[in-house]
Amino acid sequence: MDQKTIQELSDKILKLKKERKAVILAHFYQRPEVQDVADFIGDSLALSQRAANTDAEVIVFCGVHFMAESASILSPDKIVVLPDENAGCPMADMVDAIQLKRKKQEIPDAMVVCYVNTSADVKAESDIACTSANAVNVVASLPEDQPVLFVPDKNLGHYIVTKTGRDMILWQGCCATHHHLLTADVLKAKEEHPEALVMVHPECRPEVVALADKVTSTAGMINFACESEAREFIVATEMGILHPLKKRCPDKHFYMASQSLICPNMKKITLDKIYQSLVTLEPRVSVPEEIRERAFVCLERMLEVV
Ligand code: 13P
Ligand code: SF4
Repeated sequence: MDQKTIQELSDKILKLKKERKAVILAHFYQRPEVQDVADFIGDSLALSQRAANTDAEVIVFCGVHFMAESASILSPDKIVVLPDENAGCPMADMVDAIQLKRKKQEIPDAMVVCYVNTSADVKAESDIACTSANAVNVVASLPEDQPVLFVPDKNLGHYIVTKTGRDMILWQGCCATHHHLLTADVLKAKEEHPEALVMVHPECRPEVVALADKVTSTAGMINFACESEAREFIVATEMGILHPLKKRCPDKHFYMASQSLICPNMKKITLDKIYQSLVTLEPRVSVPEEIRERAFVCLERMLEVV
């Protein structure tokens, strides 16, 4: 899309957004032009907090399905729109409520911690949620003598175990985008940029995490890069984050650990689709009340720990 078309569409979106009393929330993995029309850009944690506190009538969620669902769980009286209903998270689909219920029967005294990258049904079956930004604190807040089942990301789960020393039972899911990154990729990037610090998302494999100077969420990476005295950084997460990194730290240099770090689902949201969703207020995301109430408790407990 050329710059003129982007500008025209963005102007139309901003005008219609006001008429609809809508707020546009976007994740850092969104396309640059989508991030640029958003009222707020953030990591999963900050986006949930925003969704819980907005006074807009409509939330246009530029992210993936579980994020829009969390917004609807936290703000049930708002219209929540996901501009492409097929923008899902394959890792979230690696556990469903039936599988989880079955596992809970095997270990009835376990507390279930779910990554926020899960469906509302799974949240409804879990005790507390976490994001990559607060996962260590959430697990550290649990009673010490109780077993913990962590779903679905085995890599994030492993990272939490190393930080808390807590022996959790790990579901065997992962994010294909992050799991695809190998130590060889990071070592090659380090060879090419020997002065650069390595920032790694905890969804990466443990052996990749072990190479990091900083392991953190997407928002954590932006804060780390801005505050650090270093001038160069190797980035091991989805490449959409380059846009806010370059914007917020224009005098620093960022190198992707691999050119394959792309989440195709995050890229499904386009300016065209945002505009259409503001016209039609579709596709909507909502959660049946019985599920929502239980999923709300799970998210609320997480927000209390932050
Ligand atoms: P953050 O919470 O760090 O933004 O991560 C979300 C996500 O989906 C990572 O793949
Ligand atoms: Fe899901 Fe991975 Fe995409 Fe994040 S990057 S939304 S975990 S598939």
